[in-house]
Amino acid sequence: MSKYVIAGGNPLSGSLRVHGAKNSVLPILAATLLVNGESVIHNCPDLKDVRSAIKILSHLGCRVTRENDTVIVDARTMSRFDIPESLMREMRSSVMFLGAIIVRAGKARMSFPGGCELGPRPIDLHLSSLKKLGVSISEEGGEIICEAGDMKGAEINLSFPSVGATENIMLAATMCSGRTRIINAAREPEIEDLEKFLQKTGSKIHGAGGSVIEIEGAAFASGVEHTVMPDRIEAATYLCAAAITHGEIELLSVAPEHLSTVVAALEESGCFVSAEPGRLYLRSGNELKAIRPVRTMPYPGFPTDVQSPLMALMAKAKGTTIFIENIFENRFRHVCELLRMGANIRVEGKIAVITGVPKLSGASVKMTDLRGGAALVIAALGADGVSEVCELSHTDRGYEKMDERLRSLGADIKRVE
Ligand code: EPZ
Repeated sequence: MSKYVIAGGNPLSGSLRVHGAKNSVLPILAATLLVNGESVIHNCPDLKDVRSAIKILSHLGCRVTRENDTVIVDARTMSRFDIPESLMREMRSSVMFLGAIIVRAGKARMSFPGGCELGPRPIDLHLSSLKKLGVSISEEGGEIICEAGDMKGAEINLSFPSVGATENIMLAATMCSGRTRIINAAREPEIEDLEKFLQKTGSKIHGAGGSVIEIEGAAFASGVEHTVMPDRIEAATYLCAAAITHGEIELLSVAPEHLSTVVAALEESGCFVSAEPGRLYLRSGNELKAIRPVRTMPYPGFPTDVQSPLMALMAKAKGTTIFIENIFENRFRHVCELLRMGANIRVEGKIAVITGVPKLSGASVKMTDLRGGAALVIAALGADGVSEVCELSHTDRGYEKMDERLRSLGADIKRVE
């Protein structure tokens, strides 16, 4: 079992170049199945989840190579249409491959993604939407079996702006005759990045970033080149790490416009933040203050993925901050571990009440999920004494070289296998 040994208290200072966005590259890797040739994906982070997605593409018969931060996928050799349970278990969000596999193979087979650390990961919106486009879906032995029927464009009203369901519909709709309209689509920047990629494949698709996306079929291009957008959640995580250590940080290759609600919260807590295209600078306030209630919402509201990193910061802020987690059922699992470090947090259902304490104490803690794990690292950086943070398989999913990058900013952190 791998762990970080962190001696807290060093103010972070320095500059980081933000990696490509995990939650953009994953659906784009699925979309490479629609390209009748090579897809060259630049700024592709080297993460556990990206390696899982590449394993799926290889399992399907695609040829995948990586040259530094460029991944090249040749989907012409695709020969299978199933995702084995072992690969589904590795990454719950593999369901986003469903639409793309159906488009290429006319059928798809995968085990139910089941639940994960954040609670059940239902896919009802994915399946009901695919059915509306003409896909017949049956379930047997814990597997989902899809067959493309007479695929016709349709108007799909999403009861919730699900990111994954929006992505699956965008991909599946490229094989439908006629127009598909997604109403109440997710508006995340990663959806816009996927739209840009699909437009390069010849799809007539527009509206991403707004609540209505229209797709009018596709001509599968013979080759696509794309550079993945910056990871706004990685950026937010390092901003919180600099803030809790009363340090400063310059982020490069970042899209500040994707972080407006996060920057607003950090400024309210007493940090100084300056933004310009491609660059964000934060200097921590001498004394961190509690902020008005944080409600996680679909984009452009406050991102659920930044709830736990910001909560770690607020654990040391003067006053009381309330968090309301509206997106996932079970996204406070990091709280128990923060309590072990001396935090004062009360959880009542989807509400967490954080009463700031003057100091956190180093402790041995265990990661429970990707962003909850990042929160524990942030708390350890801002704690007095030494912490051991175990189960790094969680943060390895979404943060490339986290310890190296923190050390480059002056953190006393070691990775022990
Ligand atoms: C994406 O997950 C991200 N993952 C998540 O990031 C992110 O937290 C989430 O969007 C919200 O922004 C990737 O992009 C790979 P949803 P996704 O479908 O697509 C319910 C991270 O830390 N729902 O918008 O699964 C669902 O249970 C990860 O990087 C249904 O009920 O999110 C959840 O409560 C974690 N039925 C809510 O909607 C469905 O069919 C949001 O889910 C689908 C979703």
